[in-house]
Amino acid sequence: MILVTGGAGFIGSNFVLDWLAQSDEPVINLDALTYAGNLANLASLQGNSRHVFVHGDIGDRTLVDQLLRTHQPRAIVHFAAESHVDRSIHGPGAFMKTNVEGTFNLLEAARAYWGTLQGEAKANFRFHHVSTDEVYGSLKPTDPPFAETNPYEPNSPYSASKAASDHLVRAWHHTYGLPVVTTNCSNNYGPYHFPEKLIPLMIVNALAGKPLPVYGDGQQIRDWLYVKDHCSGIRAVLASGRLGETYNIGGWNEMANIDIVKTVCALLDELRPDPAGPYARLITYVTDRPGHDRRYAIDARKIERELGWRPAETFATGIRKTVQWYLDNAEWVAQVQSGAYKEWVAANYQAR
Ligand code: NAD
Ligand code: TYD
Repeated sequence: MILVTGGAGFIGSNFVLDWLAQSDEPVINLDALTYAGNLANLASLQGNSRHVFVHGDIGDRTLVDQLLRTHQPRAIVHFAAESHVDRSIHGPGAFMKTNVEGTFNLLEAARAYWGTLQGEAKANFRFHHVSTDEVYGSLKPTDPPFAETNPYEPNSPYSASKAASDHLVRAWHHTYGLPVVTTNCSNNYGPYHFPEKLIPLMIVNALAGKPLPVYGDGQQIRDWLYVKDHCSGIRAVLASGRLGETYNIGGWNEMANIDIVKTVCALLDELRPDPAGPYARLITYVTDRPGHDRRYAIDARKIERELGWRPAETFATGIRKTVQWYLDNAEWVAQVQSGAYKEWVAANYQAR
C-alpha cells in the first residue's frame, strides 16, 4: 500500500493510473479537490478496490495521522501542491499554505508514523517528494543545464514555496533520519493537463477559435517531459533511489514557447483542419509575466547513471499523443471549463 497526495491532479492522476496498471499494490489517494483536482481523471478506476480515494487536506494532521495508522503505507508519494506560476503571482497565500505548511504537516505525520515502525518496515519506508526544476532559477542561453548540485535561486512565489518544501524534506532527513528522496522535474505535458498551462491552453483555445496568448517575445525556453515518463522516473527513484538524494528528471528537450505553440498549431492543422485557415493565425503576443524565468533545462544524467532511467518519448511522439488525447476527450475539456475556470481566464488574460 502506498499513500499518494494530490492524486486527482494532472501528474498525480497519471501516476495513480499507471501505478495500478502496472502493479497489484493498492493506493490511498488523498486530495483536497481544489480547482485543479478532478475525479473525472480517475473515472476508469471506479469499482477498483485497489484505489481508495480520500477527500481531504494534507494540512489536516488528524486526518493524515489516521490514514497512516489505518492503512500502514510503505511509502508516501507527495504530489499535492498549488502548481501554477501565474496563480502564485495573483495570490501567493495558498502556495505558502499547501506547499510549505502542508508539506511540513505531512513530514511531521510521516515522522511520527515512521517512528512506530520496526525492522524491515521501518528500513523500507520512503517519503518521496515531487518537486520542480524551477527551484534552480533561470539559466542564461549558454549556461549548462541544471544539475542536482546547482544552487537554489527561486524567482516566483510558486518556485520559492517549492524550494522551501524541498529544504524541509532535506532537513527532516538530516535531523530526524526520515528516509526521503526528492525528484525535481521539468515541465510535464500529456493527458489530463488542466488547460491553464501552456500546452493544453493552446489546444483548447485553438479548437475554440480563440487567441493563443504568447507571453512577451515567446523565446522563453523550457524542457518538456511527457507525463508518463515522469511517472516512470518517480517509480525508479522510489524503488532504488539513494536516501536523502535528489534526482533531476527531464526530457532532454529544450524548446522555446513560440515553437511549442507552432508545433501544436501544425498538429491541429493536420488532425482537425479549420476551414477558417491555419491555427497559427490565432497566435497573439501579450504582456509578459512579471519575473518571467527565461530558460530552464535539465541535466538528467544522474538518474540515468544510477537508475538506468531515460524518457521513452521524444517531443514529436509525446505531443502527437497529447493533441490526439484532447481531440478524443472533448467531454473532459468541457467539464473542466467550469465557472471557476472562466473566472481565472478573465483574471489572467483580460488585463494583458
Ligand atoms: P496540479 O495543480 O494539476 O494538481 C495538484 C493536486 O493537488 C490537485 O489534485 C489538488 O486538488 C491537490 N491539492 C492541492 N492542495 C491540496 C491540499 N492542501 N491537500 C490535498 N491535496 C491538495 O499539479 P501537477 O501539475 O499535477 O503537479 C503535481 C506536483 O508535481 C506538484 O508538487 C508540482 O509542484 C510538481 N511538478 C509539476 C510540474 C508540471 O509541469 N506540472 C513539473 C515539475 C513538478
Ligand atoms: P506554464 O505552463 O504556466 O509553466 P511554467 O511557467 O511553470 O513553466 O508556462 C510555460 C511557459 O509558457 C512559460 O514560459 C509561460 C508561457 N505561457 C505563455 O506564453 N502563455 C500562456 O498563456 C501561459 C499559460 C504560459
